Amino acid sequence: MRYIYWIILVLMLSILASCSHNEKKYKIGVSQCSEDIWRNKQNSELMIGAYFHDNVDLCFVAAYDSDERQIQQIDSLIDQGIDLLIVAPNQVSTISSAIDRAYDKGIPVIVFERKTSSKKYTAYMGADNYEMGRLMGEYIASRLKGRGKIMEVMGLKGSSPAIERHDGFVSAIAQHPGIEVVSTLQGDWTEPTAYSIVKQWLDANDGADVDLVFGMNDRSAMGARKAFSEKGKALPLFCGIDGLPGEDGGIRLVRDSLLEASYIYPTHGDQLLQLAVDILEGKPYKKETKLMSALVTHDNARVLMLESDEVIRQSQNIERLHEKASGYMRELSDQRTISWLAMVVIALLLTSLLAIYMYFLQRARLHDERRQMEREQLDFYTQVSHELRTPLTLIEGPLEQLAATPEIQNASDETNGIFAIVRRNTRHLTKLISKLLDAQVGATSATDGDEIDALTVNRPVDTVPSVDDLDENASTVLIVDDNADIRAYLTSILKGKYKVLEACDGQHGEIVAQEQVPDIIVSDVMMPNTNGLEFCQRVKTNIITCHIPVILLTARALNKHQIEGYESGADAYITKPFSSDLLLARIANLLQSRHQLKDLWSTKPATEVAEEPSPAAPDYVADPFIERFKTIVEGQMGNSELSVEDLSREMGLSRVQMYRKVKAITGSSPVDLLRKARLQAAHQLLTSTDMTVSEIAYKVGFASPSYFTKCYKDEYGKVPGESRKK
Ligand code: FRU
Repeated sequence: MRYIYWIILVLMLSILASCSHNEKKYKIGVSQCSEDIWRNKQNSELMIGAYFHDNVDLCFVAAYDSDERQIQQIDSLIDQGIDLLIVAPNQVSTISSAIDRAYDKGIPVIVFERKTSSKKYTAYMGADNYEMGRLMGEYIASRLKGRGKIMEVMGLKGSSPAIERHDGFVSAIAQHPGIEVVSTLQGDWTEPTAYSIVKQWLDANDGADVDLVFGMNDRSAMGARKAFSEKGKALPLFCGIDGLPGEDGGIRLVRDSLLEASYIYPTHGDQLLQLAVDILEGKPYKKETKLMSALVTHDNARVLMLESDEVIRQSQNIERLHEKASGYMRELSDQRTISWLAMVVIALLLTSLLAIYMYFLQRARLHDERRQMEREQLDFYTQVSHELRTPLTLIEGPLEQLAATPEIQNASDETNGIFAIVRRNTRHLTKLISKLLDAQVGATSATDGDEIDALTVNRPVDTVPSVDDLDENASTVLIVDDNADIRAYLTSILKGKYKVLEACDGQHGEIVAQEQVPDIIVSDVMMPNTNGLEFCQRVKTNIITCHIPVILLTARALNKHQIEGYESGADAYITKPFSSDLLLARIANLLQSRHQLKDLWSTKPATEVAEEPSPAAPDYVADPFIERFKTIVEGQMGNSELSVEDLSREMGLSRVQMYRKVKAITGSSPVDLLRKARLQAAHQLLTSTDMTVSEIAYKVGFASPSYFTKCYKDEYGKVPGESRKK
């Protein structure tokens, strides 16, 4: 059973394993140099891009403008086993070593938006910062109509956009001699720094004129604006870069005239992610991707704002859709788990049922085997019992008979002593064997007792009716036993008192019983051909023999055997070895207690009959045999020729069968019964009609009136005339 459990467990686990999603996931590390609205926008675009790729996991880190932190974060991402690194280096040279380490470990590296001094990168994506600076310079010069004073607030020192934007800006301004850059302040891309450095400068240069401030990003421009606003003087114009959408973005600042112009610095996170996936999947990709950009001025800010709001709305829709899809996916996964769990439970249940079934099957098999063994054991002991009890009967019984003979009674003391020893020890041996066998049989606790034919079956004998010269009224006993010695012994016991018939088995017994209709049957149980139980059953169900008492005489001493015997219809059950006196007493008793139908045609006056009813009358009245007999006799009452042979023929019986059956049931011979029937009918006519005695005599079947008168007087104690109605 244990093996079955293991096999099922392994099967289920392998099914589960085969069904789980084991597609490889790419882990992409995203190292941002800082954290602000531009970076947030780009990160969310990266995430939206990842929604389209089931096999991508993103891991974001932000260095908050710190070189050391960014180096640490990149090393940590390498240790986490990322498959690809996207990095925006805080400064050009400081972060290169960490990027190189990733690259040297075989991790593809995408540098985006800011540059590195190393050549160890897989691809670069970003806008042209020099061009952006230059175009902004051109715009400013044109906005100031070639004349004016400009303040420049730089981005973080050493970061590539700051360097390139400055170079571009300077190259454009150089073309306009009327434009003067009054100050180039070193910022770090953040608004607070821009505010504080501009404030410092204004404090130091009180009264200086500035027509326009160029912040290298929108946040720097707004920081400067704040500082100028606090001075309470007329504000110069402010230009920035980034041009982000949304509430705090540069487009709205331009639309609301807080900034004069901005330049869209593209984030394109989704495009960046696609590039990463292409690299990871070994697809062709561009090593350098330049992102396109555009100027935001009062002229296009409103339109751009509308468009960017729409983009934001759509992005939010995508986000919502994604959340919904994720919800469905989670549900699906939950349902899948539940289904599998249910299957596991069902499988376990089935296994348990199977185990229970096998257990019961095994138990039933063992039970059957035990039953079989017990049966065999019981059969064996029954057999042994039979084999032992039979000879014991044949020793003990004859010994008892011998003891009663004058020879033994008058023998010498010595002979008597020896004889007593023999008798005592025979009895002792009988008891011992009974005890031993009963104990053994009891131990088997068998519930089923199939019959076994005797191991040594005596040669069947022909049916030999041995009717003695006894009183012809003596009852007839039929002995049915396959053991010739037992038959001989039984005959010796019975022959003085009864006529004895013998049969060697049930089959013969049945023939003899039907032919001779004995008064009682003594039968063994274990016999070849038809056994005693079957024989008894047949006797009791046959119309000719059903009234005959049957005594089963057998070595089968168990209660269950006796019950079987009674169930087959036996009237008594005597176990071997038996006492001959007990058997004789039982036979006499059964014969005596036969219920005979004495009043079938009672010639006694009705009152007397009523006072002395036959105890068994109701039984026999219902008996089909008697009913038929009565009908035939009454129908032929007037026929003086009617003989017992005629009656037997009409009943379909032989003369003997007829005689014995009628005698057994009624206690009278058929002839007597016929005469009683006639006399009773005559008596009836005498007391109820005016017919003459002669007429009545002929009417009821008497051949002569004188014989009728004689018979009538014998029966009623008076001549017919005396019975005439008064
Ligand atoms: C965002 C940012 C932008 C700027 C860019 C330069 O972190 O400071 O405002 O345009 O980086 O790399």
